[in-house]
Amino acid sequence: MSSPAPIRLRRMTQADLPQVEALDRLSFRTPWPPSSFAYELRPDASSICLVAESTDAAAQKQIIGNVVIWLAADEAQVATLAVALEHRGRGVARALLASALLEAWQLGARKSVLEVRVSNEAALHLYYGMGYKPVGLRAGYYEDTHEDALLLTLEEIQPEALQKLLKPAESGF
Ligand SMILES: CC(C)(COP(=O)(O)OP(=O)(O)OC[C@H]1O[C@@H](n2cnc3c(N)ncnc32)[C@H](O)[C@@H]1OP(=O)(O)O)[C@@H](O)C(=O)NCCC(=O)NCCS
Repeated sequence: MSSPAPIRLRRMTQADLPQVEALDRLSFRTPWPPSSFAYELRPDASSICLVAESTDAAAQKQIIGNVVIWLAADEAQVATLAVALEHRGRGVARALLASALLEAWQLGARKSVLEVRVSNEAALHLYYGMGYKPVGLRAGYYEDTHEDALLLTLEEIQPEALQKLLKPAESGF
């Protein structure tokens, strides 16, 4: 069996938007409205936007994952995180989130928060594994299914621990 294609993490650019938006539509029941990702890339945005790119020549630098984090005071809110179906279970989301949180920490964030559907086992496994803890429930939070959201917090972003989750070849900046 061939080994999985290597990946590179780097900042999202305008040129990535068609692939990022396509991935978003495939990953979520309620995708972000058109131009939302472009809005996050504006020069004065308080956002960290990263993509994971397959560096396999045959894959032609395909975008296989993305993350957006919003910064507000000392808080890094995970706004979206997605990995293409055929690349899941390889640690891509964990690497993306670790890299984005590291950058958030460098910019002054000290804790992280997010909301996640109570039924999203893959995401919950990822977040709990990275140290997030449940701190609240938003009843009927999601408009499409009226599902509850769990509010998770990572009380202390620990850069050394995050660094260990990144392989040297994965960071493109
Ligand atoms: C959630 C998501 C981003 C995870 O991406 P991924 O690249 O497959 O995750 P990783 O490979 O980095 O996995 C990290 C951990 O989660 C676990 N995990 C991943 N998918 C899982 C699943 N379906 N069930 C249980 N655990 C799972 C992995 O085993 C790993 O834990 P481990 O180290 O203990 O083995 C991906 O499933 C996805 O894009 N889902 C649709 C969009 C979404 O729900 N985003 C999150 C919104 S809050």
